[in-house]
Amino acid sequence: MAEKRQRETLASRVGFILLSAGCAIGLGNVWRFPFITGRYGGAAFVLIYIIFLVILGLPVMVMELAIGRASQQNIGLALNTLTPKKRAWGVYGKFAIVGNYTLMMFYTTITGWLLAYFFHTLKGDFVGLDTAGVGAFFGGMLENPLMMTFWMVLAVILGFLPVARGLQSGVEKITKWMMVGLILLMVALSFNSLTLKGGSEGLKFYLVPNFSNLINNGFFEALYAAMGQAFFTLSLGIGSVAIFGSYIDKQNRLTGEAIRIIGLDTIVALASGLIIFPAAFAFGVQPDAGPSLIFITLPNIFNQMAGGRFWGTLFFIFMSFAALSTLIAVFENIISFWIDLRGTSRKKAVLINAIAIAVLSLPVILGFNKWSRFTPFGPGTNVLDLEDFVVSTTLLPLGSLIFTLYCTWRYGWGWDNFIKEADSGTGRKFPSKLRIYFKYILPAIIIVIFVKGYFDIFHG
Ligand code: ALA
Repeated sequence: MAEKRQRETLASRVGFILLSAGCAIGLGNVWRFPFITGRYGGAAFVLIYIIFLVILGLPVMVMELAIGRASQQNIGLALNTLTPKKRAWGVYGKFAIVGNYTLMMFYTTITGWLLAYFFHTLKGDFVGLDTAGVGAFFGGMLENPLMMTFWMVLAVILGFLPVARGLQSGVEKITKWMMVGLILLMVALSFNSLTLKGGSEGLKFYLVPNFSNLINNGFFEALYAAMGQAFFTLSLGIGSVAIFGSYIDKQNRLTGEAIRIIGLDTIVALASGLIIFPAAFAFGVQPDAGPSLIFITLPNIFNQMAGGRFWGTLFFIFMSFAALSTLIAVFENIISFWIDLRGTSRKKAVLINAIAIAVLSLPVILGFNKWSRFTPFGPGTNVLDLEDFVVSTTLLPLGSLIFTLYCTWRYGWGWDNFIKEADSGTGRKFPSKLRIYFKYILPAIIIVIFVKGYFDIFHG
């Protein structure tokens, strides 16, 4: 291993919270949350999702931050640093890094779609199109690998530039402003969406739970999806958040920090739903349209708004910011792995990884056109579904399970070490009275939902 070098830190607490929120807030909030909620029947699903954020997401986030802060290492090396004699745990650290790469393999393409939508809204290409016209535009983009590759490569470059500049002057500074702008705009646009004619059915779908719907559509499947979404939206299970724990000091207890990060993430997710569902119902887009949902719904909103082209452009730029802030955070994690592991210089690591990730992103693009005969989960599915499955429904829950066992069992890092780290500083303490829950029940919830979910997918 390379000689230990002076580790960079973040400049401020606000920087840390917004950067971690930037890692959390992303496509999971503005793209995945609306379409998954649409698929599983609306409000009842949202309720389960919020419960999972609290009972699963919050403790696992505190654990990841604690592992990062105590080890002062990237997740690829953190577990071996904390428990050098129990090296089996460290094996997962490498899987976690693979998970970060796999996440980026599809994230870059969808970020590219957002950048393309920003450009075409600015140019006025959606003006006058009806719902079918917008759908056709999106379909045309999917059939055009060159166009998608162009926008994907741009996303990779924009994501890596701040990382190349360094932690404080690049990553922290840029993400901070992007996040503030995004949150303000999302809240403003959700108010606008509430006034849409014909949107009230959408609001009802989104806000009034209908459990019979949920049960009829497969209750366990919804639970599995809600758990995956809770972990995905918080980037938990592959150490993407742990890295920011490794960049802070011990002034503040970690539970309070995690609540702030999750609070910001949830505001943006809920606001996305408020923007999308009234609009989907108002413009006759099926809420269960799947991954294309926001791309065929949103341009319609702006077409009927006064000053819609301006607001649309602004909206897509901030949506792109949300996605870029996650790209930046996960790229930072990947780069810090190479710096910590091999002592590679930041600039060199950036160059090699930017090329590698652009190439690794191509299968998702080709999956929509040239490779569309590859349907891993049956007709209509493609490479994107496969990679999303590997990350969201496999690595994230498994990783979260491993972190939970590691932090609560004495065969791992152990409860006492974890609590000491989580509660260092001032602020809200970790609820250690619930130790039995964290040690037995939380892992059991993840295992049961995971095993049943897998079984249903492959034998259902
Ligand atoms: N947490 C990231 C997102 O929600 C992966 O997009």
